[in-house]
Amino acid sequence: MMQQPATGQVISSDWQRGLPVLTGKQVMLRELRVSDAAPLFAMLTTAEVSRFISPPPSTVEGFERFIGWAQRQRAAGSYACFAVTIKGFDTAIGIFQVREFEPGFTTAEWGFALGSPFWGTGVFEEAADLVLEFAFDTVGVHRLEARAAVLNGRGNGALRKMGAVQEGILRKSFLCKGEYLDHVLYGIVEDDWRAAKQPMQRVAVVERVH
Ligand SMILES: CC(C)(COP(=O)(O)OP(=O)(O)OC[C@H]1O[C@@H](n2cnc3c(N)ncnc32)[C@H](O)[C@@H]1OP(=O)(O)O)[C@@H](O)C(=O)NCCC(=O)NCCS
Repeated sequence: MMQQPATGQVISSDWQRGLPVLTGKQVMLRELRVSDAAPLFAMLTTAEVSRFISPPPSTVEGFERFIGWAQRQRAAGSYACFAVTIKGFDTAIGIFQVREFEPGFTTAEWGFALGSPFWGTGVFEEAADLVLEFAFDTVGVHRLEARAAVLNGRGNGALRKMGAVQEGILRKSFLCKGEYLDHVLYGIVEDDWRAAKQPMQRVAVVERVH
């Protein structure tokens, strides 16, 4: 069952039956639909977007198959993939995915890609905030990992500003266009994420202690 979410809120009692709509100030994230295949193909197969990530499907039909797979995995409770849209326009401009690492979904990995016209616009940060809230509050993730190629400046910068902590380098772990690249392993732990969300409360507590 889903309820109408207010801005910035995630309300869903059963995400496996259908992903909740996540609404921010300028973005709206929702379940993927087959009709997202063509715009996602246009947005995510460009050289700059796909440079440091696993190759996206190479045809619109490939994206349609991916969307069908994503819906089945969501129904099985092991994966969630949101289409990113700008509020008022229903066109998908990118995706955010969260996948389970072990039964129970307490450890998970997230990943994301946006069409390059939307880079540096604040869309990433707003969407990422909503997806983190979904992962920790709705799904019950305890630890959220991410991997970014060392050479992927934007990907690393984007993760860091969301509070992801570099935990190690996975040497030559990622085959990209015939070359093995090093990956940075990032982690966000639920407790840290919750603490970072409450800066004013923390300051108030510290002030009372002194
Ligand atoms: C990753 C992605 C979704 C981030 O969205 P974005 O709109 O580019 O991200 P933002 O601009 O909000 O944040 C990127 C940050 O990295 C910083 N950055 C940019 N180039 C950088 C570089 N070469 N080195 C370090 N930081 C860099 C930016 O300054 C920005 O930080 P700021 O907002 O504090 O200035 C988008 O770039 C994308 O789709 N990339 C292609 C797919 C991809 O690589 N996915 C990630 C796999 S880990």
